[in-house]
Amino acid sequence: MTNRSRKPYIAGNWKMNLDRAKCLDLIKTIKGRLGDGGDREVAVFAPAIYLADVTAVAQGSPLGVGGQNIWYEDNGAFTGELAARMLREVGADRVLVGHSERRHVFKEPDEWMGRKVRIALDRDLLPIYCVGETLDERKANRTDRVLKRQLESGFDKVRPEDAHRLTVAYEPVWAIGTGETATPEMAGLAHKTIRKWIAQRLGDTAANTIRILYGGSVKPDNARELMAVDGVDGLLVGGASMQADTFIPIIEYDLRQTP
Ligand code: PGA
Repeated sequence: MTNRSRKPYIAGNWKMNLDRAKCLDLIKTIKGRLGDGGDREVAVFAPAIYLADVTAVAQGSPLGVGGQNIWYEDNGAFTGELAARMLREVGADRVLVGHSERRHVFKEPDEWMGRKVRIALDRDLLPIYCVGETLDERKANRTDRVLKRQLESGFDKVRPEDAHRLTVAYEPVWAIGTGETATPEMAGLAHKTIRKWIAQRLGDTAANTIRILYGGSVKPDNARELMAVDGVDGLLVGGASMQADTFIPIIEYDLRQTP
């Protein structure tokens, strides 16, 4: 059984899906189901244009609501971008940084990551910093090297005292949206590499504080097994977070029998 000194964190990433009505419907359902939700942290990362509406519905509940991306300046000539302070202003309390689709589809370079994580922390947003290797990188035995390079850039401006506000998500690129999931062994090893790296960089206290989520084709029928892996503190869920009947069983991963 895994050490639950860290509160489980289940996050849904809706990506560029759903419409306004469906987002509001879904957040209402999750809110109703969650109650006071004290023993786990649950959050959704909604399309930015709907954040004000989604946060308005989530108000008064422990549900977190976040954006999926930010730029690292507060103002300026950055057409199409959103500042951390803007997400905060419409009620978001967290943000994804370095999601694999940002890195691979939109070619965001490592160099941006440290500044994005820093501005999120400075503007009172809780970042989830996403890392993960591609299939080619895994096949070439470069997983650890890639993870360390991504951690190096994302943690560039992180201090030990930021640890309680920062989360890392390990999302192997080959497992995102593909139906392929990392085996518990693979997830366990990657999480171990990440935590060890954090311990070396920020010390043991920070490394024991920071939660590391697993992401990549998480479904109701594998959530429990993944959450049982030592060092897996939560789940970042894409496809299965867009419907209450798949997301709620994942949130309640420990309340059901494994099929
Ligand atoms: P998936 O997406 O669950 O659909 O694989 C995960 C993610 O991109 O965060």
